[in-house]
Amino acid sequence: MRTILVANIKGGSGKTTLATNIAGWVAGRRRSVALQDEDPQGSTTQWLARRPALFPKIGIFPVGTSKKEAREQNIDWRVIDSPAGIHGDTLRALIKQADLLLVPLSPSAFDMEATQLFLDTIMERKAVRAQKLAVGIVAMRVDARTRSAAELDEFLYGFDFPLLTHLRDTQVYVQCARDGLTVFDLPPSRGTQDWEQWKPILHWLSTNAS
Ligand SMILES: Nc1ncnc2c1ncn2[C@@H]1O[C@H](COP(=O)(O)OP(=O)(O)OP(=O)(O)O)[C@@H](O)[C@H]1O
Ligand SMILES: [Mg+2]
Repeated sequence: MRTILVANIKGGSGKTTLATNIAGWVAGRRRSVALQDEDPQGSTTQWLARRPALFPKIGIFPVGTSKKEAREQNIDWRVIDSPAGIHGDTLRALIKQADLLLVPLSPSAFDMEATQLFLDTIMERKAVRAQKLAVGIVAMRVDARTRSAAELDEFLYGFDFPLLTHLRDTQVYVQCARDGLTVFDLPPSRGTQDWEQWKPILHWLSTNAS
């Protein structure tokens, strides 16, 4: 079992969107996957409750499920969604559970400032320095034509963590969130453009799958 933690101290950065879409991708490949919603807001849990039964199945682990307990469920992937504002012992405890950490980040000064502090904290973790925890960054809601998109790339250039991809700003994610779906559940006519942008994340997940 591999555990992916999706985290950023910044609220609204795209954590739940990333977590649910990753779970949808894994499920679509007929691998077993469960979401663990560590956010008291419960957005992931509510999304899962909206998921139509016809789509690839995604399980759920209760808050606080440990690595050992998760392993006993014989699941291939566990995806943990985390709350905004996460820091200190709570962050440390979740990082301890994780094999991979994905950090979503939107192109705004507020997000970049908060994320800078977050990434600095992450860098201090022994597991990160020993390269036991793979860390990747995903730029969310990016309109490639804007100045802020370029500023985001410049900002990330200074970090040791790879920027895996940009996901465009599109209502497709908002509609999927509403309907309990992911971009991977859509027909090619609606999904192709976003699948292209996801390819580097999927490659990163696959190369860190064992
Ligand atoms: N690429 C995108 N294009 C358009 N809207 C997006 C995109 N990614 C996320 N959103 C929307 O942005 C909002 C915030 O995203 P999300 O809920 O995933 O963030 P979050 O980090 O989980 O927030 P919170 O800190 O409140 O848990 C949601 O309404 C979501 O549908
Ligand atoms: Mg969320």
